Amino acid sequence: MTAEILLVDDDLAHRTMLRLHLAEAGYLVTEAEDGDIALALLADRSFSLVLLDMRMQRVDGLEALAAMTKSHPQLPVIMVTAFSSVETAVEAMRQGAFDYLTKPVDIDQLLLVVERALRNRQLLAPTGGESTSVPVAIEGFFGRSRQMAELIRTLGLVAPTDATVLIQGESGTGKELIADAVHRNSRRCDAPLIKLNCAALHENLLESELFGHEKGAFTGAASQRQGRFELADGGTLFLDEIGDMSLTTQAKILRVLQQGEFERLGGISTLKVDVRVIAATHRDLRRMVDDGSFRQDLYFRLAVVPLELPPLRERPDDIPGLVELFTQRYAERNRKQIDAVSREALAKLQGWHWPGNIRELENCIERAVILCTGERIEFQDLPSALREIDAVPAPQPSPGTSLKDMERQLILQTLEQTGGNRTHAAEQLGITRQTLLNKLREYGLAVTRD
Ligand SMILES: Nc1ncnc2c1ncn2[C@@H]1O[C@H](COP(=O)(O)OP(=O)(O)OP(=O)(O)O)[C@@H](O)[C@H]1O
Ligand SMILES: [Mg+2]
Repeated sequence: MTAEILLVDDDLAHRTMLRLHLAEAGYLVTEAEDGDIALALLADRSFSLVLLDMRMQRVDGLEALAAMTKSHPQLPVIMVTAFSSVETAVEAMRQGAFDYLTKPVDIDQLLLVVERALRNRQLLAPTGGESTSVPVAIEGFFGRSRQMAELIRTLGLVAPTDATVLIQGESGTGKELIADAVHRNSRRCDAPLIKLNCAALHENLLESELFGHEKGAFTGAASQRQGRFELADGGTLFLDEIGDMSLTTQAKILRVLQQGEFERLGGISTLKVDVRVIAATHRDLRRMVDDGSFRQDLYFRLAVVPLELPPLRERPDDIPGLVELFTQRYAERNRKQIDAVSREALAKLQGWHWPGNIRELENCIERAVILCTGERIEFQDLPSALREIDAVPAPQPSPGTSLKDMERQLILQTLEQTGGNRTHAAEQLGITRQTLLNKLREYGLAVTRD
C-alpha cells in the first residue's frame, strides 16, 4: 500500500519542492498550509506520516504537534525547522516528534527519515496502544531518586524511536548500562548492538574500525574488512567517549547520521546502512562546541535526546538501594549468607563523595562482601579511605542545597555523634524518636539493623 504523507508548511515554494521529491519517491502527498487545516484533515482521514513545519504564521508547529500526538499517538510526525531553532526541535522530540530535519532540507536525508518513520510505524502497529512510551526493563539496575526516575521516564519515551541518544555523565555513573537499556527496549533489540570506544584508538585506526577498509587501503590492510557501521546494520551502534573523536572523524560520523552513507577506507563505492546511534561521553560537549573542538552540527544531531546521568553524590537517596542490590549480587556470587549492612557502615557509605560513582560503590561492596565474616557488612569491611572520614562532613548551607539534603546530612551527623543511638539523636535534634524514625525511613536510611 502506498504511504500517504501529510505535508504541512505555509511556505508554498518550500512545500512544492518537498511534494515533488516525495511524489517522485512514490509517496502520495496531501498538502496543508497551516496547522488548523492539517488537524481538520487528520480528523477526517488517516495518514501514514506528517511532515510539519516548525514555524508557521497561524497555528504554530509545536502547538499542532501537541494536538496531533494527543489525537493520533501512533502517527509519526517529522518536524522541519530552520537551523537556528534546532533547540526547539529538540523540545519537539521530547514532546513526541519522531525526528527533525533542518532547512535547507537535504533530500536524501528526508527520504531516509521518512522511510525509517514508516517502518517504525509498521512495527508499532500490531501492538497498538495509546502511548509511545513502553515500560522500561533494565536488568541489574537501581534508581529511585527524583533525578533517576525522570531519566527513566525519558528513556521509556525515546527508546522505541530511532532517535539518536546522547548519554552524558561522569565516569562510572552508568552510561553503558543506559545505552544497553535503550537498545534492549527498542524495536532493534533482536538486531546487534555494536560498541566502540572512540577514546581507545587513534584517528586512522578509529576510522578503519568505524567504516571498515578495502584490501591494501593502508600498510597492514591485508584483506577487506567490515567496519562497525556495517556490522550494526539494522541494529544499534554505541559510540562510547565520542568527545574524544577528531574533527575529521566527526565530519564523517555526521554524514552517516544525516545520509546513512559512507565509504570504506580506500573504497570507492558508497555503502548505505540503517543504524541507530547512541553516543556517550564524560566530557562537556557543549563547552567543547564553544571552544571549537566539537562540531556544533554533530552536537545537535547527537543531542536530539540528551540523557544526563547525575553523579552519585547528587543522589544519595539511591545509595541504600544500590548497596542492597550489590550486597545481594556479590553474596550470591561468593556463596555467602549476607543480608544486611550495619548502620554505621551505611552511614559511612552515604557520607562518601564517590568520585568513581556507582562503579566505585559496586567495587566497594564486592570487596566488603568478600572480607565480611558475619551475616552483615560491618564498618571494618569498608575500604580505609571511607573508614577514615571521621564524621559525615558538616552540612554546608549554601544556595543550591535543598532543605531536605541539609536535614538528611544533619541527621546522619548527629547519629554519628551519638554512636547510632536514635533516642539521644532525637533529643539533640529536638524532635520525637518517632519523627526521627519517620525521617530515616523517608531518606532511605532505615534499612540497617540495630
Ligand atoms: N543505576 C545502576 N544500578 C545498578 N548498577 C549500576 C547502575 N549504574 C551503573 N551501574 C554499574 O556500575 C558500573 C559502571 O557502569 P557503566 O560502565 O555503565 O558506567 P559508565 O558511565 O559507562 O562509566 P565510564 O565513563 O567509566 O565508562 C557497572 O558495573 C554498572 O553495572
Ligand atoms: Mg562506559
